[in-house]
Amino acid sequence: MSKGAIIYPGSFDPVTYGHIDIIKRASKNYDTVYVSVLENSKKSPLFTVEERVKMLKDVTRDYDNIIIDTFRGLLIDYAKEKDVHMVLRGLRALTDFEYELHMAQTNYLISQGTLETVFLPTDLEYSYLSSTTVREIASYHGDVSKFVPESVAVSLYKKFGY
Ligand code: PNS
Repeated sequence: MSKGAIIYPGSFDPVTYGHIDIIKRASKNYDTVYVSVLENSKKSPLFTVEERVKMLKDVTRDYDNIIIDTFRGLLIDYAKEKDVHMVLRGLRALTDFEYELHMAQTNYLISQGTLETVFLPTDLEYSYLSSTTVREIASYHGDVSKFVPESVAVSLYKKFGY
């Protein structure tokens, strides 16, 4: 059964095995998965948008229904431009839920009910994992090989000068 397209938006600073797990599962269930990196985040990212896109392309190159893209401004406007009506977010734990619920309800409201959000529970193996933790460990020159693919680990090591 055709399930159409879905947008998986995020900062991906950098992409982790947790994100990759969600992307792979989405690719099985949707015809097209847009993995969309937010460009104008108020956060100051470690990696540039170009670097994040390159890492995402590298780790998803075996999947032909995944499109790595970027967006600015509101997610609802980007979704409209792509003519996609579904957003995907991963849920790691109850602590994620409040923020994610708020975002999903806001997007539903400001899109006048045209943009839905679906949640995928993160695989238990990755429920502790976040890009923030990975950046922190790498900044102290720790081993991040259990959290990110080798190409991403190399980018982190370069960024932190080792
Ligand atoms: O990986 P992140 O940082 O948790 O992703 C958050 C993201 C990019 C999905 C969210 O901040 C977003 O969609 N920002 C775009 C601005 C927007 O549409 N805001 C209104 C929704 S509350």
